Amino acid sequence: MKDFTPAAKIRARDLKLGRALLVRNFQEAEEAFSRAGEEFLLFEGGGIKGVISRLVWEKAKLFGLKLPLERLVFEVPSLSSEEILSAPQLFRLLKNPANRIIIEDSLFSLKEWHLLGLKEEEPPLALSFSPAFRDLRQKALSAAAYTGLARVFLVGGGVRDMVLGLPVADFDLMVPEKVTPFAQNLARFLGGELVKSSLFGTYKIAWQGLEIDVTQSRWEYYEAPARLPRVFPGPLVWDLFRRDFTINALALDLKTLKILDPFGGIADLGARRLEILHLLSLVDDPTRIFRAARYATRFGLKPSVNFKRALSLALDLEVLSLLSPARLKNEVFRILKEKDPLAPFEWLRARKVLEKLPTGKDFSFSSLKRLLAGDLPAKREEILEALLLLLAGEALVRWGVPDQKAKRLLSGFKEIAKERDFLCSEKVPLSAKVFWLEKLPRASILAAWARWPELDQPLREALAAFEVRPELNGHALKALGVPSGPLLGKLLKRLRAAKIDGQVKGRKEEIALLEKEFSHVLAAGSTRLDRDDGSATGGGDGA
Ligand code: CTP
Repeated sequence: MKDFTPAAKIRARDLKLGRALLVRNFQEAEEAFSRAGEEFLLFEGGGIKGVISRLVWEKAKLFGLKLPLERLVFEVPSLSSEEILSAPQLFRLLKNPANRIIIEDSLFSLKEWHLLGLKEEEPPLALSFSPAFRDLRQKALSAAAYTGLARVFLVGGGVRDMVLGLPVADFDLMVPEKVTPFAQNLARFLGGELVKSSLFGTYKIAWQGLEIDVTQSRWEYYEAPARLPRVFPGPLVWDLFRRDFTINALALDLKTLKILDPFGGIADLGARRLEILHLLSLVDDPTRIFRAARYATRFGLKPSVNFKRALSLALDLEVLSLLSPARLKNEVFRILKEKDPLAPFEWLRARKVLEKLPTGKDFSFSSLKRLLAGDLPAKREEILEALLLLLAGEALVRWGVPDQKAKRLLSGFKEIAKERDFLCSEKVPLSAKVFWLEKLPRASILAAWARWPELDQPLREALAAFEVRPELNGHALKALGVPSGPLLGKLLKRLRAAKIDGQVKGRKEEIALLEKEFSHVLAAGSTRLDRDDGSATGGGDGA
């Protein structure tokens, strides 16, 4: 027996415990998988180094995918038999999504690692914990003990952010069983409010302005591409494997503060690599393509070879067209929440993803770019609608915008398109443009602004004037003798128009304007005012 102590150098040749099953096509894979209990086969052909996993191969059959086998080849680290490595180096290589290394014509796995008596030599990771996390940890451990649970984990993006030294906004906790009593106890211990979220039997606790998700470890099963999965209780490692990317397949044991990282997520974070867990990950759940865009640009990650293969598979199989409008809209909204929302869209465009989406025939990326780089006053929801309008055109409902709203947005956009000359004309008073535009949805205005550069100045000025109000309000006008009624509204509008057009500055000038244009009305009292048809008010309508 070789010496495999951690300090020893290991020659790859000594790890070759037997030949792997080599296959070249679906037929051979079918035979090999049914004959042997193997989870992975080695793919032979065209110089491609990689493995075929039973899971992916079975899923491909279930989904009825007619693909050459080589499209399902997952790249894993590959060593020549003469290579010499230390145990920790080898262990790090084994931590890939397949947990296998290719050594020429053989596969070395984690199981064999343990059979050879090798030890994991993990350097401890120095993490810094926020006061909120420390508090949560104590209470989660108490709640776990009270519920009779030995272990409780922080999982997913929170662990990723901790490893990166970033603040953690959302805490996702996971327990191996007894999720309901644990969540109830944790909510009580925290003094937070427990909200059951229905979809996958997960719980949410609102605590100190934070959201804590509590789930039980589970496995999920996709019956068809882009469907929501069916979920079943399952071991922790399965729960990590069902996730989107290795960098999110991390769990922090709250008792020991050790990170479980079976698929090399920490190394991928270090190497800035975006790696998937299996090749049909993006077919199972195409929203992961948008998630990839967010993570790649947020953390500066480079897509792995496997990711690129998975993406090209997903795009070739047109799975994006299977996503429901609500899920599509949600993904766009999540991109908008990024610090630099333009970057994920550019990332998607560069990888030819945008063209697989239900975009309108007039879509131009430059307008989307202008919208996102723009500094016009708007709420995020309005920017989202404007963006969808630019992307989708007539196909707005296919992006989850309700029918009536879609009609309003689109007709507002088209009206602006028709009235570009009016909006750009210097002869038209600004107030007239403002009164006209105010009737249209803000999102239509934003989209038109992004679409036609010549509208920049007019729309900017108009939007700024939306907020302008005269100093004299309704009460002040009543005090000046104007009775309540339609005329009061008309006078207020006249004053606002004058202020927008720079004809008056301050209360004194507003009173002077009223005296000049409405003296007869103000002096005569209510009876005459009621009969006034506005013809003597100097064009008070403004529009
Ligand atoms: N997840 C997944 N596939 C998805 C959505 C989520 O595998 N389509 C998993 C990931 O492990 C992710 C976790 O569920 O880390 C929580 O999802 P979410 O809150 O959307 O992601 P975070 O990483 O927490 O947040 P963000 O993307 O905003 O950083």
